[in-house]
Amino acid sequence: MAFTIAIDGPAAAGKGTVSKAVAAHFGFAHLDTGLLYRAVGAKMLAGVEPVEAAKTLLAEDLEVDGLRTPEVAQAASKVAVMGEVRAALVDFQKAFARRAGGAVLDGRDIGTVICPTAEAKLFVTASAEVRAERRYLELVEKGHEISREAVLADVKERDARDMERAEAPLKPAEDAVVIDTSAMNIEEAVAEAIAAIEARRDA
Ligand code: DC
Repeated sequence: MAFTIAIDGPAAAGKGTVSKAVAAHFGFAHLDTGLLYRAVGAKMLAGVEPVEAAKTLLAEDLEVDGLRTPEVAQAASKVAVMGEVRAALVDFQKAFARRAGGAVLDGRDIGTVICPTAEAKLFVTASAEVRAERRYLELVEKGHEISREAVLADVKERDARDMERAEAPLKPAEDAVVIDTSAMNIEEAVAEAIAAIEARRDA
């Protein structure tokens, strides 16, 4: 049986952690769609034309090191504005969403464009300041030398580009349950997400 859980939201809101925990809870497969755009962004930084990179993307391109850096995140946000790049990645995401056994996809446009008929939709968000602080601590832990101000500026720049683009802009689907994690820890956010999905499933 196919059952799709769409989880959208801005950078560093906790989508990734919530999505992994939700997928584990329900025993569903999980796709971090940001990784597709990051892989294309990384190829662009390496000199490959982005549309060509998207059309020829392979599963192993998602496993290369270095996709989680701020530079690649910015490049991902830039290639994500291109309609042809998005179009090249649609079929793979749609097929994943309807796979047998259930799927969790997290990204920016899953509930609005990739899977508007998803059985459950969440929009996981938090204030820009809280998201930047979380991302800052994560980057410092990984050994990156970066300032809080630079991370906040980066988060705000990416938010603006992701929300203002013409194609598939970041916004909650009309029927999405919005979860603001600003004042929540991971356990609380996950519990809230699971409760919202179970409520949809049982409705
Ligand atoms: O979720 P993330 O930070 O890994 O995403 C990186 C960039 O990719 C993000 O700034 C915008 C883009 N993206 C997108 O446009 N649509 C998606 N479904 C997922 C990511």
